[in-house]
Amino acid sequence: MAIRFLTAGDSHGEALVGIVEGLPAGLALDVRAIQRDLARRRMSYGRSSRQKIEQDEVALLGGLWKGKTTGAPIAITLPNRARTVQGKDGGGLETVPRPGHADFAGMMKYGFDEVPPVSERASARSTAMRVAIGAIAKAFLDELGVHAIGHVKSIGAVSADTSDLSLARIRQRAGRSPVYCADARAAKRMMAEIQRGRREGNSLGGSVEVIVTGLFPGIGSHVEWDRKLDGRLAGAMMSIQSVKAVEIGDGLSTFRARGIDAHDAMQVKRGRVLRPSNHAGGIEGGMSNGEPVVVRIYSKPIPTAPRRAQTFDFATLAPTESPYVRSDICVVPVLAVIAEAVAAWEILAAMMEKLGGDHMRDTLAARDRVLAEQSRRLTK
Ligand SMILES: Cc1cc2nc3c(=O)[nH]c(=O)nc-3n(C[C@H](O)[C@H](O)[C@H](O)COP(=O)(O)O)c2cc1C
Repeated sequence: MAIRFLTAGDSHGEALVGIVEGLPAGLALDVRAIQRDLARRRMSYGRSSRQKIEQDEVALLGGLWKGKTTGAPIAITLPNRARTVQGKDGGGLETVPRPGHADFAGMMKYGFDEVPPVSERASARSTAMRVAIGAIAKAFLDELGVHAIGHVKSIGAVSADTSDLSLARIRQRAGRSPVYCADARAAKRMMAEIQRGRREGNSLGGSVEVIVTGLFPGIGSHVEWDRKLDGRLAGAMMSIQSVKAVEIGDGLSTFRARGIDAHDAMQVKRGRVLRPSNHAGGIEGGMSNGEPVVVRIYSKPIPTAPRRAQTFDFATLAPTESPYVRSDICVVPVLAVIAEAVAAWEILAAMMEKLGGDHMRDTLAARDRVLAEQSRRLTK
């Protein structure tokens, strides 16, 4: 059985619910680690007052025995506090579809004359559950020595330069930054940019990078399109609200390069392959190649902003302006947390296909066998 998850719940309903199935038994899960990632999601700079309302009191309802997984499905709940602030029927603007949102297409598809049945589910509140599930994936990856870190590369016109920073530095500095940016100077300018956006009534987009370290070669597969790790990561990343482009490695610059400059030379040393560069972003032919996996995502400026867009009222078909309710200004910092979680899940799923195991002991033993065999074959 492949590992999988399913989520349910509306933005202002009772709760978000998730079920994860297929994890091996014996994996220690600490609710506090999930809370920590949810707090990172909530606390990032540029978000709306809703984040002060939400507490994200996560509960794990099944699939655990004495703090470790049992192999049974894990049920996760996250109550929504904001349901008391903006009820499902509130606002009086339920028939005005907002440009840039799922409203219009969802109303046409599912036959609704009102926005909320669509917007309540399309809302990025659902990413809180993806972060919780990603935190579970990160606990699994931790055991295997695999680590994912998301950090902000740009907001509006301000870009970070992290080219000289080690991974440890990126993690440390991004962790301390209110905008999850490892370049402190750029972070200051990003915050000023967000403040300007707030004053001018405009939202801001940007980009985020996720780096995954500790992967051995051969996770994913070249043999069929839907088993390719790059395709799976790109699809999962693209499914995050507001993400409009995904880049693996230097995909958005190497397409201009000439042949040899776009690829990463190889040399064998002490049982492993070394490379001077990582243009491929750690994936070749749909498989991890042993280098850090690097994925970047690009977010549009979110659609709801004090500056309103032209639209129409579904009830009268008369022109009107899109409603403005409490809204984030810039979700790029929080995308660093979400993208990290989403990448962690995809890597976990691909690793479980490679290693399998009903108990973590089996999974770890399989990993050790793979590492020993790979090293043996690269030693003469
Ligand atoms: C964490 C997060 C928070 C978001 N908050 C808002 C918001 O407050 N207002 C808004 O208009 N869009 C917000 N968005 C973006 C919309 O959810 C998204 O643009 C919309 O659902 C349409 O999906 P699409 O942009 O992927 O096509 C947010 C996105 C994310 C990832």
